[in-house]
Amino acid sequence: MVAPPAWNRSSEPFAELFSATAIATRVAELGAQITADYANREGDIVVIGVLKGSIFFLADLVRHIAAPIILDFIGISSYGDATVSSGVVRITQDLSRPIEGKHVIVVEDIVDTGHTVHYLLENLATRRPASIALCSLLHKPERSERETKIDYLGFTIPNKFVVGYGLDISQQYRNLPFIGYVQGA
Ligand code: IMP
Repeated sequence: MVAPPAWNRSSEPFAELFSATAIATRVAELGAQITADYANREGDIVVIGVLKGSIFFLADLVRHIAAPIILDFIGISSYGDATVSSGVVRITQDLSRPIEGKHVIVVEDIVDTGHTVHYLLENLATRRPASIALCSLLHKPERSERETKIDYLGFTIPNKFVVGYGLDISQQYRNLPFIGYVQGA
């Protein structure tokens, strides 16, 4: 496997929280767990990526799920370009197909206050899927404002604003291969 580029680690103002290797190991574990849990389910499995933050996680995760899956995406607005939750959530891009009767796995980058996934899961439930599970790479429990059941969780993190591996600050740094936080934040 080709190593990801070293991204100005000494000059960028980020403290590394999870290395690319640590992320890859955990994502493989989550994929194996999902594979085992869905091994005996009848019917289609639809993995829904929440745009844009989940795309790297989703792409890596599904390659560790040893089962036929259908991929779809949903766009949700949460923060705009700020780093504080507005609490206002809306769908900016809808799924391409109905999910009625299908086993849905929603893949998120991070559960922060919980408003986004709460809204999303309620919305998807009205479409009558056979089941819905939530898979989130990160969870910031200190910021929780809604009780959220995360079925598959990568890492619990402290109350820091993190970037990399899909997560952004003002749309930047999604392509960092590791997850870090802005030092001093
Ligand atoms: P929630 O509705 O407060 O749970 O926010 C969830 C969304 O906010 C995530 O899908 C992210 O897009 C964004 N978000 C929350 N915390 C962070 C962070 O630390 N870094 C980058 N994006 C974040």
